[in-house]
Amino acid sequence: MSLALESPLSTLDSDLMRIVFVGPPGAGKGTQAQRLKDHLGVPHLSTGEMLREAQRANTPLGREAAQFFEAGKLVPDDVVLGIVVERLADDDCIRGCLFDGFPRTVSQAKALDSLLAEHHMPLDLVVAIQIPDGEVHQRLASRGRIDDAAETVRERLTQYRHSTEPLLDYYRRQSVLRSVDGTGTPDEVFGRIRSIVEAAR
Ligand code: AP5
Ligand code: MG
Repeated sequence: MSLALESPLSTLDSDLMRIVFVGPPGAGKGTQAQRLKDHLGVPHLSTGEMLREAQRANTPLGREAAQFFEAGKLVPDDVVLGIVVERLADDDCIRGCLFDGFPRTVSQAKALDSLLAEHHMPLDLVVAIQIPDGEVHQRLASRGRIDDAAETVRERLTQYRHSTEPLLDYYRRQSVLRSVDGTGTPDEVFGRIRSIVEAAR
């Protein structure tokens, strides 16, 4: 698909931060991106939230995506890339942004690289939040989202291992990867992430 954007992205000030959060389901990507958003003042782009929003709005895209995410499977790359390209064209993304749950495949990462390169925007940092599988199950057991049923969480973890974990090597080779221990309280985890972000600025 074409990733061309007709937007003010090309005018981006390159010292503002673009950060990717990667990690298994329940690692705390959303929780931590929300905190960092308040700290840095840049928007938080959660592809999971965008897909659930499209489902709530009952759009064709939302209906298509729901068949995948309700089963714990990844939504096809072209669907996800479509919503990301559209969202990145919004003016608030000029100030940088926090990607939460995107990219999730090497193919999405390559598409993001092309998109950013086209607009002379660096990807500053990839924060990989690590937590043990047992804690994933514990955290999601009580939340009640439709994809939080134990069997679906197992499938989400399988998808993560198979399709998303290869991203870690991909970003390690670009020297932008930092791993963070995601266990402990949200405040403790945020303290670790803030140190990493400040060091990268
Ligand atoms: P998405 O919404 O991104 O879900 P996920 O990554 O599988 O998992 P979560 O959002 O549940 O985890 P999180 O790491 O954000 O943790 P959170 O902060 O919420 O994606 C959903 C689905 O959409 C995917 O399965 C896929 O189908 C599809 N999708 C999305 N993006 C896609 C893409 N790029 N490509 C293809 N498909 C895509 O925390 C979890 C819970 O733990 C919360 O209850 C929270 O309060 C709690 N918690 C957080 N931190 C702590 C802590 N330190 N201690 C104790 N509890 C904590
Ligand atoms: Mg999330």
